[in-house]
Amino acid sequence: MSEFFLKSILSIFLIFLTLSAMFTMFEVFGRTEKKFNIEKLKKIHRINGWLYALLYLVIAYLCLDFIVNTRAELSPRGAFHSVFALTIIILLLLKVSFIRIYKQFYNQAKTIGLLIALITFGMAGTSAGYYLIVTKFGTELFPMQKAVAEKMTVKNKIIVRTDPESIEKGKEIYDSKCYFCHDPHSAEWIVGPGHKNIMKNPMLPVSKRPATPENIMELIINPYRDMPSFSYMSEDEILNLIAYLNTL
Ligand code: HEC
Repeated sequence: MSEFFLKSILSIFLIFLTLSAMFTMFEVFGRTEKKFNIEKLKKIHRINGWLYALLYLVIAYLCLDFIVNTRAELSPRGAFHSVFALTIIILLLLKVSFIRIYKQFYNQAKTIGLLIALITFGMAGTSAGYYLIVTKFGTELFPMQKAVAEKMTVKNKIIVRTDPESIEKGKEIYDSKCYFCHDPHSAEWIVGPGHKNIMKNPMLPVSKRPATPENIMELIINPYRDMPSFSYMSEDEILNLIAYLNTL
């Protein structure tokens, strides 16, 4: 099972816990004539809270693990998701403090509870909801996973393109995506090392790995140290880019 799928399933549980917490809160505070045993509802609400926190920590761990492993720049969706997630921690702590310590604010705890519920829906919707729809409920690979899987299979068997059309296309990509940080005409550093003779030299300038097309492809997907990743590029684009680098 992929990590994304696991997280999505856990998020569905998180949604159920949230709904159950909302229901118990409404039953306790919302009705004039109580329908259920209040003490029992409060207990369920409390257990809900603990389970929520536990599940939240597990999911957050998986998310951070992914970020640390890929060192990927967050997508706009990922950025929204992180803001939602961080807001929830703060609100949860506030809520608990209003109930346990600053009891004058007890009433506000209900509003905060609702806010937490709303943000949880937003958080799970923009991640798990998106994932489950895009992958048809986990039956297909995530586009990014698919791209990486396809690229990894080309490992060790790249034939460098030498036709003028590929080189020209590669130059266009280079000028729009790499030129900003790299000088193609010398070995001088701009933000990264210059690319003159990059594939003619035996080793890559920084990592000192062999200057093979496979290593360059790997580097564009999983950069060494500070360079941003271009894992969103198609295999065709990367091959054209390598065709151009080969001429420098
Ligand atoms: C935002 C700046 C930036 C952009 C854009 C960028 N790079 Fe880099 N690149 C770097 C830095 C910084 C390094 C040096 C790595 C380090 O010291 O962390 C580097 C290193 C490299 C190296 C040498 C790696 C090694 O192992 O020695 C290659 C090859 C390279 N980049 C290719 C590219 C290509 C191809 C593109 C365009 C698709 C690109 N870079 C876009 C910043 C950038």
